[in-house]
Amino acid sequence: MNHFLDIHKTDPAALRGMIDTAAAMKAARNGASKATPDAEQPLANHMVALIFEKPSTRTRVSFDVGVRQMGGQTMVLSGSDMQLGHGETIADTARVLSRYVDMIMIRTFDEAVLTEMAEYATVPVINGLTDRTHPCQIMADILTFEEHRGPIKGKKVVWAGDGNNVCASWLHAAAQFGCDFTFTGPVQLDPEMEFVGLARNAGVNVTIERDAAKAVEGADLIIADTWVSMHDAQSARERRHNMLRPYQVNRALMDHAKPDALFMHCLPAHREEEVTSDVMDGPNSVIWDEAENRLHAQKAIMRWCLEV
Ligand code: CP
Ligand code: NVA
Repeated sequence: MNHFLDIHKTDPAALRGMIDTAAAMKAARNGASKATPDAEQPLANHMVALIFEKPSTRTRVSFDVGVRQMGGQTMVLSGSDMQLGHGETIADTARVLSRYVDMIMIRTFDEAVLTEMAEYATVPVINGLTDRTHPCQIMADILTFEEHRGPIKGKKVVWAGDGNNVCASWLHAAAQFGCDFTFTGPVQLDPEMEFVGLARNAGVNVTIERDAAKAVEGADLIIADTWVSMHDAQSARERRHNMLRPYQVNRALMDHAKPDALFMHCLPAHREEEVTSDVMDGPNSVIWDEAENRLHAQKAIMRWCLEV
């Protein structure tokens, strides 16, 4: 069995295999209605626990639907309703859950919760977002890019805004899939230098450019995310907005990129803040495919975890 904790901790050949599996499984469904079971039922007789210590729409629904399409069953648990939220240790929770379920997906705050869960669980553990990374999202993003534009290798990806958890997983993906990566945002919100270093050591051309218009020149993909993440203090909201306003993805910024540059956003979006509606709803935006692909990418991730 395998844990899916982070993109940089996963073998590049395995990652490529997951993207290919996701694309094949998506094609095989060929427009089937959502509740139609997949022809293959690799998760038959499997129970999957989905634990949320933070809100979620896409992660919650796409994992739940994905497990069911593959023949398995799910239980969606809120951290605060579990003894985990009332003092039981992560290690003990992991040991107990491993006696009941075949796989655990967890969305949590501190990355240490995820890594400790994986250390003590005897079933696969999947990272459904921490304060530091969001690997399932970027697997869906790679799948989406390649569906629209072919191999991502050598393409120019630009992240505009906060160097947050989703940005971190993009840096990891740049290292594993071999694309160029440009960050444009205020110095106070740079991505973690450990992750920048990791990508550079893997040979990635990582650029940090404070001028957003310059940053997007020649871009094949531009990505935005919320200016205030779930782990950020609401009291920092105004300060963050003031710093990030020059990095809004709007029509004028898109005009500096390649004419066919794609736009992505993991969602939920704050329209007219990090991105304007004309970009979100415009011809370069692939955000709904990106959201749908959470389902297909995660089905492939779960199969890899369980080796089924
Ligand atoms: N993109 C994403 O993870 O969305 P949710 O927070 O709705 O799960
Ligand atoms: N950066 C965002 C992503 C939400 C899916 C957050 O952590 O809140």
